Parts: sequence; structure tokens; C-alpha cells
Amino acid sequence: MKEKIDRSNLPQHIAVIMDGNGRWAKRKGAERVFGHRNAIEAVREVTEGCAELGVGYLTLYAFSTENWNRPRFEVEALMQLLVTTISNEVETLMKNNVRLQSIGNTDKLPNRCYNKLQEAIELTQNNSGLTLVLALNYSGRWEITEAVNSIAKMVQAGQISPEDIDQQLIAGQLTTRNIPDPELLIRTSGEMRISNFLLWQIAYTELYITQLLWPDFRREHLYEAIIAYQQRERRFGKISEQVKS
Ligand code: IPE
Ligand code: IPE
Ligand code: MG
Repeated sequence: MKEKIDRSNLPQHIAVIMDGNGRWAKRKGAERVFGHRNAIEAVREVTEGCAELGVGYLTLYAFSTENWNRPRFEVEALMQLLVTTISNEVETLMKNNVRLQSIGNTDKLPNRCYNKLQEAIELTQNNSGLTLVLALNYSGRWEITEAVNSIAKMVQAGQISPEDIDQQLIAGQLTTRNIPDPELLIRTSGEMRISNFLLWQIAYTELYITQLLWPDFRREHLYEAIIAYQQRERRFGKISEQVKS
């Protein structure tokens, strides 16, 4: 499978909506949290797979703004899992030259999560391989609202005038300001929706939705998604003849 990937046409940025942990656990007759714990192996596989291939950025949707509305027990289990996973994996991140970053309203995470996350971000900041971006307490609408707020303040302070507001200025106010837009978005567990993920950034992203549940996702599935991406014709509004090289 890996040999079928065209190394000259790799997506620079892959984003993933890691969905289906709860269903995976239910199918095994277990509690939902069991699914979250078994999701870590998939995270590891995809991260290592991307790092090996030379993909620049991998963004994983780990906790949405809306996920706070889940039962308290589940939210707490997810926060705890975040802390233990970062503690356990940071060494492997260093070994694989992976730089950790985050997007989202991470200030509002429980202190121990926030601190662990920042610690790992600082420790890995000089790594030069894959950038792994965790979307935590993230939502696209939250991010766009924040950007609108800060642009309004810039206008109010007289730093810019309304005519200066263009797509570049808006993109520069988003949490992804230093990250290229994803070329490929993978969603597991078959749901045909975006669930408030990177709304601005996915304007021309190729979507790849698989029925597989996230805890079953492995390197070969990542390769399958990349191969499918490479078979797409990205037209960006043009016609086929214009984009054929
Ligand atoms: C994704 O799996 C993990 C998070 C949203 C944190 P789910 O927990 O949404 O699993 P399903 O969709 O209920 O099966
Ligand atoms: C999206 O999954 C959020 C994450 C993967 C973190 P959800 O399971 O929360 O999405 P919906 O509720 O099915 O849209
Ligand atoms: Mg879900």
C-alpha cells in the first residue's frame, strides 16, 4: 500500500475528525470510555505514519467546544486521558522529531491538562519533523468569532480601516495562522458532517470519509486515504482541461 503513494504529491497538511470511539466500545459490550482509551493506538499509528512519509502537519480533532455537553463522567475521563497520554507519549514525540502544537480555547481546559499540554509544546518546540496539532476545546465558529472580535478591536484602535479587511487578514487572526490549509480531511465512522471543525480552512479541502471506527484506524488506512486523495482532480473552480498538467 505504502509503495502506491506518490511521494511528490503528498498532502502537506492532513486533518482528522477522530470519530466512533463510543460505538466501537458499545459493539464490544463495553463503556464508551473504553473506546477512548483504545483510540490512542490509532493516534500513534497515524502520527508515526505521517512523520515517516514526510507530511508537514497533522491536525487531530480531539475535543470540540460542544463535547463539554457530554456526561460529566465522560468529559472527565477524556481530560484525564489527555494528561496521561501526553505524559506517556512525549518521549516518542521527541524520538520521532515531532513538534506538538494546539488550536482551540485551551485556557479553559482544566489546569492540569493545560499545564501538561504547554509543557509538551515547549519541550518539542525545536523539533523539525511533523507538526502535530491537537484541536482541543476547538470549534470553527469559536475561532471565527474570536478573529472577528480582534479585527473589530484593530479597527476601533485605528490600526486598520474596514477596507483593509481581506482574506489574508482574516486568516492571520485564526489559531491556524502559521499552518497551511489542509489538503485532506479524514473522518472516521461514516458521519457525513464537519461538526464545527476547521470551517474557514477547509474551503477547498478534499474530504475522505470511512466507515471504520477510529480505534480501528491504522497506518494502512492512512495510506488508503492518501492514495484516494492523489486520485482526485482538484479544480479550484476551474474546468478539468485547465488543471491537467
Ligand atoms: C470521538 O468518538 C471522540 C470524541 C469526540 C472525543 P465519539 O466519542 O464521538 O464516539 P461515537 O461517535 O459516540 O461513537
Ligand atoms: C466530532 O465528533 C468532535 C471530535 C472528534 C472531537 P462528535 O462525535 O462530537 O461529532 P457529532 O456530535 O457526531 O457531530
Ligand atoms: Mg462521535
